[in-house]
Parts: sequence; C-alpha cells; structure tokens
Amino acid sequence: MIELAPSILSADFARLAEQIQAAGAGGGTIVHVDVMDGHFVPNLTLGPPVVKSLRKVTDLPLDCHLMIENPDQYIPEFAAAGANWISVHQETCPHLDRTLHLIRDHGCLAGVVINPATPVEVLSEVLDIVDYVLVMSVNPGFGAQKFIPNSLHKMRRLADIRQQRGLNFRIEVDGGVALDTVAEVVRAGGEILVAGNAVFGQGDPTSNARLLLKTAVEATLQKV
Ligand code: DX5
Ligand code: ZN
Repeated sequence: MIELAPSILSADFARLAEQIQAAGAGGGTIVHVDVMDGHFVPNLTLGPPVVKSLRKVTDLPLDCHLMIENPDQYIPEFAAAGANWISVHQETCPHLDRTLHLIRDHGCLAGVVINPATPVEVLSEVLDIVDYVLVMSVNPGFGAQKFIPNSLHKMRRLADIRQQRGLNFRIEVDGGVALDTVAEVVRAGGEILVAGNAVFGQGDPTSNARLLLKTAVEATLQKV
C-alpha cells in the first residue's frame, strides 16, 4: 500500500499545525519529522518538545527520522513525546540490534535508515526485527535536493529480499521524491513516500500532496 508522508522540514515552522492539516487533506497519512543534530548531518532542526506539540495537533502517526549520533540516549524521550515510528541510521548505531529493540520496547514501530553510500546488505541481520527500512535517496541534512537514482536498485533489492525471506517490513524512501521521480520510486518498490519540498515548497500543500499521491498510485497500477 502506498502512503504519503509529508516532511515538515520544508513546511513553515510557525504554522506547523495548519500545514500538517493541509497536507493531510491532500492525502498525507503520516507526518515525517526530521531530527538533525548538527553532528551526524550538517544541520539542526528539532527535538522532543516539538514532537510533543505536534502530538497535540494531529492524530496522524508521527514518523521521527533520527539523524543524530547516539540515538539510544533520546529514543525514550521521543517515544514519551508521542512519536509513533522511530527510525535510526545504520551508520550511527554500532549496536543496531539493541537500538531497534529499544524502539520497540518503547511501543514504537522501528525503522532503520541507510544513506546513499550504504549498501542494503549491511541490514541483513536486522531485517526480521524492523517494521520499515528507509532508503535515503539524497544525502541527509537538507530538503529540496536532487534525487539519487542509485537508490532505486536498493529498493528493488529490499523488495526481493523481503519476498525471498518471507519478511514484511515496509520500504520508505526519503529525498527528492517529486512529480518527476515518484513513478520510478513506486515501480522500484517504494511504499512510504516522504516528500518535503514537493508538498510544502511552493503552491498549495493540499493540491501538491493530492497530485503527488495520485501520480504514485497511477504508477503502481501500471507496474508490470
Ligand atoms: C533530508 C530529510 C528529508 C527531507 C526530504 O535529510 O531526511 O526528510 O525533508 O526533503 P525533500 O522531499 O525536499 O527532498
Ligand atoms: Zn527524513
């Protein structure tokens, strides 16, 4: 099932409630929340207090993408603030198995993220304990970057492995998902589509979300 996860990174931070509602009205069903620490990625965004405030203004699942070092230290706080999904980067987690269990132990869906330069194969031992795998299709840190086409074969590979091993994690994709890339993303196996700039960059978030989702669903139907 295809779902759209508007990323608030490109939204107006002074009007988050309104912008989330607008994207939801266009079919967004998950709110993607980018957490950046200025160390793992060269940008700073937000932390648990903002998640707590978002929790009050939407019933949609809050998908917290932690682009931070030492995520174990903060997972309990994000969960307490109202996160529903928490993903961590493989690149930041020397004890990835423990970290993913920590997320689940706090009642959240657990996701693992890989950067463009990280191969799918490093996830082999954790694919049975994740609810979703997030394939980065840009180098994380900023919105509105150009989609990296090499990420497509990683989605295909994940879908193949999932079938071969009878697993049921979902495949999320993040970065440069827009009208010109979304069709090939869903054909490659992308199911949860994160989109920041394409939804909030310009124009009306409701119609942007609606058109993006429609384009994605149509491409799935054409999938051979
Ligand atoms: C990038 C973030 C993304 C970002 C995507 O580091 O993880 O979630 O918001 O933005 P767009 O859709 O503009 O590429
Ligand atoms: Zn993200």
